[in-house]
Parts: sequence; C-alpha cells; structure tokens
Amino acid sequence: MGKDMDRLCIYTGYSRELLELKLGHITPEVQSWIIDHGEDIIKEIAVPALKVPEVSSVFNTTYGTLFHDDCIKVLASMPDESVDMVFADPPFNLNKDYGDSIDDNMTKSKYINWCEAWIKECVRVLKPGGAFYIYNLPYWNTFLSNILNKYMNFRHWIAVSMKGLIPVQGKLQPEHYGLLYYIKGERPKVFHKQRIPLVTCRHCGGEIRDYGGKKSSLNPEGISISDIFMDINPVRHKKYKNRSANELPLRLLHRLISLSTDAGDIVLDPFGGAGTTYVAAEFLERNWIGMEIGDTDIIIERIEKNERDRELLLKIEKESNILFTEEQVRLRQKNNFWTYEKLKD
Ligand SMILES: C[S@@+](CC[C@H](N)C(=O)[O-])C[C@H]1O[C@@H](n2cnc3c(N)ncnc32)[C@H](O)[C@@H]1O
Repeated sequence: MGKDMDRLCIYTGYSRELLELKLGHITPEVQSWIIDHGEDIIKEIAVPALKVPEVSSVFNTTYGTLFHDDCIKVLASMPDESVDMVFADPPFNLNKDYGDSIDDNMTKSKYINWCEAWIKECVRVLKPGGAFYIYNLPYWNTFLSNILNKYMNFRHWIAVSMKGLIPVQGKLQPEHYGLLYYIKGERPKVFHKQRIPLVTCRHCGGEIRDYGGKKSSLNPEGISISDIFMDINPVRHKKYKNRSANELPLRLLHRLISLSTDAGDIVLDPFGGAGTTYVAAEFLERNWIGMEIGDTDIIIERIEKNERDRELLLKIEKESNILFTEEQVRLRQKNNFWTYEKLKD
C-alpha cells in the first residue's frame, strides 16, 4: 500500500497528504497537515462573508425611517423576515427623467434583471404570510410575475382602472395599470376585506350597476372590493400633486395597507417618489421603511406638513366600508331612492 501510494503521488503530482485527503483518508498526518495549512485552505475555499453595506437614514418619525440611497443597497442591510408588507412602484423604464442617478431607459433584459435583484431582496426581508404588491405596466408585469412565481404565491392581478392613458397606434386603448399581489408562503398573515360604497349616478344618485334586486342582502358596510379597482383616480389636481413626476393616489395605498396589515406592522416601499406609501402608513399608524435614490426633500416636507393629506385621508376613511357616502344619501333621499335605513325595513 505504501509503495502504491508513492507511485500514485508520482503519477498525480500530489503530495502524500493531499492524495490521502482526496481519497478521503483523514489520517493523523493529514489532520495535522490540515491544521498547519488552515489559512491557505480557507483562502482557497471560503466564500467571502457578505459585507453588509452601511446606510444611514435621512429622516425619522415616530413610525418611519427614510433612506436617501439605492434601494438594493438599503435592502441588503436589512435582516431577513423583518417587514410585514412590501409595496413597490418602480420606474416603468419609459425614459422618464427621475434625475441623474436613475437610468429609466434600460434594455429589456437589463430592466428585468434589475427588477429581479430588488424583488429577491424584498422577498427575503418579508415575513412569512406577508403581502408583496408591485404596481407596473401590464407589459412589465408579465415578466415580473415570472420572477415572483419562483419565490411567492400568486393572489391576484388587480387591474387599477386609469382613464387618460396615452393611446398606442395599432393597439387597444390602455385603460389600466397592473397591480400584482403575492403572498410569502401559503396564507396571508393579514387579510382585512375592504368594502366600498355602491356605485351610483353622480347626478341622480341611482344605482348604476344591477345588484340583482337583492338589496336586502347588501352588506351595510359596502360592496366587497374586487380585483378591478374602478375608483382610483390619478393625481392630477395641482392642489394634491407633490411633484411633476408621477405619484400614486393616497386612496390606493390606504386600501392596500388596510387590507394587508394591522396597526403597528411594518410597511416597506423601496421606491419612495413623493412618499405616498409613507403618508398613508403614518395616517394608519403603521411603521414604515422608505428608500429613495432621488430627491427626498419632497417626501420630508410632505410628511412634516401633512394637513392636506390628512384631510384627504380622513375623507377616504369616511368613504370606506360603508354602503353610501353622505353625499350619496343626500342625493338618493332627494330623488326618492332607497337608502340604508330602508334596507332594514
Ligand atoms: C414611480 S416613482 C414612485 C412614486 C411613488 N409610488 C409615489 O406615489 O410617489 C419611482 C421612484 O423610484 C425612485 N428610484 C428609482 N430607482 C431607485 C433605486 N434604485 N433606489 C431607490 N429609489 C429609486 C425614483 O427616483 C422615483 O422617485
């Protein structure tokens, strides 16, 4: 055996210890050789420890923390399974001007790879049962769904109806954005069904949709939301717009945060923009973690001077989970349509 090993060493060019090791013989000599060469072995085989990037926040409130940095870097600094919900409204790669630090005109594969990088990080930091929402053009959502399907469970593709989208020659008139709704694991940790008022004519107050004549079976708390959101209007009015670039309506974020979290939970949005998610989270007493690579002053100012948003959110809250708003009741009574009181008869 000794002579065979010597011949094998000559043939392979290995030292005696290395050959023993390759053959799986951990003799006392091999063991002491490993101990003597420990540092070289580690250098050869060790995967460098993940360096956690250092990030520091630019703004803090009782509920939230805002980072002025690249979301991938901030996400990498966060522990696994530490947030309850993620909402992401990334740039749509439409060559919009978000400032020098953002390339909104990537090649298709670069954009998809970039999305996979932040999506993977968001999935990692999300707690089991947590909800992940991504808002994008239906076109991009077909690719993002493919990515999400690898890590999470599909709940809904919500169509957020949006009037006034630019027509594209030779195509159908676009009338919605896609909102992907996924869950980490089998079951949502939180699912508070949201209800909205009955849809009525804004002139006479009469019902627009036929609810099958079964008004007695209508829930006094309103109509359950479906996977088509018809009541989300774009922020166009100067009074409510915080910046020239796009900004989502508070009603959308108020609804999603109410649906998928409890008070005290943590909501993460990696693409701050004008801070709509953070404003809604503050109002609903949820903790939040925000990131924005571009200007963060708009977000900070908006949260500090929050009267206008608060007024709007109070109105949104008043109009949620009821069958008729006050305005609808007034109009319906005037025009002799039944109201909630009649439902009880
Ligand atoms: C579509 S906007 C989000 C709008 C936001 N939902 C709102 O309602 O105001 C996307 C934002 O992501 C920011 N952004 C782009 N790349 C980023 C990155 N790598 N890290 C952090 N923010 C980024 C852009 O500056 C832009 O403000």
